[in-house]
Amino acid sequence: MKLKNIMKFCLVSSLVLVVGCKNPSITTKTNADLDKKVDSLLALMTLDEKIGQMNQYNGFWDATGPSPKQGNASKKYEHLESGLVGSMLNVRGVENVKAVQKIAVEKTRLGIPLLIGFDVIHGYQTLSPIPLAEAASWDLAAIKKSSEIAAEEAAAAGINWTFAPMVDISRDARWGRVMEGAGEDPYLGSLIAEARVKGFQGEDLSAVNTIIACAKHFAGYGFAESGREYNTVDIGTSTLYNTVFPPFIAATKAGVRTFMNSFNELNGIPATGNKFLQRDILKNKWGFEGFVISDWESIIEMTDHGYAENDKHAAEIAINAGSDMDMESYVYVNYLAELVKEGKVDEKLIDDAAGRILKVKFELGLFDDPYKYCDTEREKTIGSKKNKEAVLDVAKKSIVLLKNENNLLPLKKKGAKIALIGPLAADKTSPLGSWRLAAEDNTAISVLEGLQKYTDNKVTYHKGVTLTEGKPEFVTETQINTTDRTGIKEAVSIAKKNDVVVLVLGEHGFQSGEGRSRTSLNLPGLQQELLEAVYQVNKNIVLVLMNGRPLTINWADKNIPAIVEAWQLGTQSGHAIAQVLYGDYNPSGKLPMTFPKSVGQIPIYYNYKNTGRPTIPAPNQVFWSHYIDESNEPLYEFGYGLSYTTFKYENLKLSSHKFNKDTEFTASISLTNTGKVAGKEVVQFYIQDLFASITRPVKELKGFEMVALEPGESKEISFTIDKKIIEFYTVNNKWESEPGDFKIFIGGSSKTVLEDTFSYSN
Ligand code: BGC
Repeated sequence: MKLKNIMKFCLVSSLVLVVGCKNPSITTKTNADLDKKVDSLLALMTLDEKIGQMNQYNGFWDATGPSPKQGNASKKYEHLESGLVGSMLNVRGVENVKAVQKIAVEKTRLGIPLLIGFDVIHGYQTLSPIPLAEAASWDLAAIKKSSEIAAEEAAAAGINWTFAPMVDISRDARWGRVMEGAGEDPYLGSLIAEARVKGFQGEDLSAVNTIIACAKHFAGYGFAESGREYNTVDIGTSTLYNTVFPPFIAATKAGVRTFMNSFNELNGIPATGNKFLQRDILKNKWGFEGFVISDWESIIEMTDHGYAENDKHAAEIAINAGSDMDMESYVYVNYLAELVKEGKVDEKLIDDAAGRILKVKFELGLFDDPYKYCDTEREKTIGSKKNKEAVLDVAKKSIVLLKNENNLLPLKKKGAKIALIGPLAADKTSPLGSWRLAAEDNTAISVLEGLQKYTDNKVTYHKGVTLTEGKPEFVTETQINTTDRTGIKEAVSIAKKNDVVVLVLGEHGFQSGEGRSRTSLNLPGLQQELLEAVYQVNKNIVLVLMNGRPLTINWADKNIPAIVEAWQLGTQSGHAIAQVLYGDYNPSGKLPMTFPKSVGQIPIYYNYKNTGRPTIPAPNQVFWSHYIDESNEPLYEFGYGLSYTTFKYENLKLSSHKFNKDTEFTASISLTNTGKVAGKEVVQFYIQDLFASITRPVKELKGFEMVALEPGESKEISFTIDKKIIEFYTVNNKWESEPGDFKIFIGGSSKTVLEDTFSYSN
């Protein structure tokens, strides 16, 4: 044995003894046990090796070819071999992961395995609906299941860490990343954050089908000024605590192991270098024990922000602020050791960061078996029938029925002649959305396929206009919208000859997502023209929208009898849409985000504040909070969504109109299915705090329940109100309840129908 190998053997053997490798029950160990193992391992490590754990590189490994030579990339292999890399992202597939893991385990001095990260946002290969769409299901079990499938497939492809869920609340549909979140509401967003974290991480992180989750982007990213990607964020304490933080708190409570900071600055300090966010709040106040990763190059971007003098200074700021791992900035690996030697960074911070990262590796069981995610047999299960069925279930639950005049829907299963028109009708890629890294193009079921497979009804298809050409992910909106109108005429002549027209319009898959902010929320390109031309010859139109954000579809709302919000529903999109259009699934989705009438209304959200002049004081007055050219009302409010049946809300009863810190009361209503078919309704319960130490929103969602009813059936639904429900972050800088009067509202959307009042005393 060569000296080097003997040394490694001794070190690893002592490590085995100390950390208890091969012990399968690692996750049942207490935190203290884990901490001991981490400390023992840290004691064996050099400063450079500890810093190495804090370094993450983007994938360079191509099992069949050399690594790229540009930029810092040439150093990556060398760094990997010398234990200067703790994690890699964008390496996927068992063969590739095994190859990089092998270097870390066999070539480095201590053989510490790598974390393998990937953006498994709404599935790995079998894709569920985009997260905004899933949020529209309000079905926490379905959302959790979808994350479980995502984790199972990703884990089977060698991945042990997803950069999800994105829990950024946003009120601005111009921002392209609203597709990746759960919408505008902190309460719904918190429950969904919890469901997603639990879905990815499961009960047992050492299992082979669970992976660690990452709550991102901490914090305020969804509040980018003017909806422009990466833009400045400037928000006050109340919004930060009462709106932005809750889903992050929920993710922390659900045990999320990692956080990602964000590209934006928050009130003058970039989130990546923000000590208040990462150390004071997250690690100290909330007691988060996992680790924080930077966003892609966000450490060095602090120089562009004008917050760091140079790259080295950026590294110093980031580590001091609490960013534990550097994604692709190369500055931790390049400068941290120097900074420690110069006394600018305390080595204890390095120990803390590396320790947090190692702890997660222990929890995942990577020290027991670094190749536990590298099973080629399991890899073959990716894309299984079972997974496809599961994503179909959540896809149909995510659809929201926006309009259905004269019961145009559901479609007749026999004898209907259908014209299927629109640039997205046969699109097999757009339904996958913009986060489809491991899903091949053209793998979604299109609406055309879905309708054709569903019944023998004759379907005649024409795309009408073109929305995408070439490689849309890299071109701007003006380049992709063609001006060719020839298809409109042909589509119109088909529409004339058919009973019903199903028009599939919206945004192509790359028109929302990161880096895809828009200033207009209209139907892009010539789609509006197509819609109006078809309407001239056939008014029986079902408009199926496929989009990653709320759109301003005022004309359609006024003129088109049936509108179905089908978002980007993932792999099974066309099947889900067909089941809904034919009534085999009665739509139950509700909007998680307000649809504006005009971009000028943005930010528009249901839980706004009243202002001092909320209503018009007298006819023809202008001195009140309004626009002179548009109403304050949204097109579709938060929580809105129809069904093929109707529901009646009545008899709001409170068991008491007063309560205090030691008591609680219930509010109940009776819900009846007054239509002809069975259906599900999301009963929503809101409150308003009428007077408080800081002004409170006109309405806040505080509970909901999904209720299934047969035609004619009634059920009593009740919600319990206790002190927790009225708590908020007050002027005293703490979460507390304040005595006073409240309103309670219950209904099928944020435009609730029933209301009453109650009061609270301490
Ligand atoms: C995004 C993150 C993502 C990361 C890695 C960044 O551009 O903001 O959300 O996880 O890239 O792909």
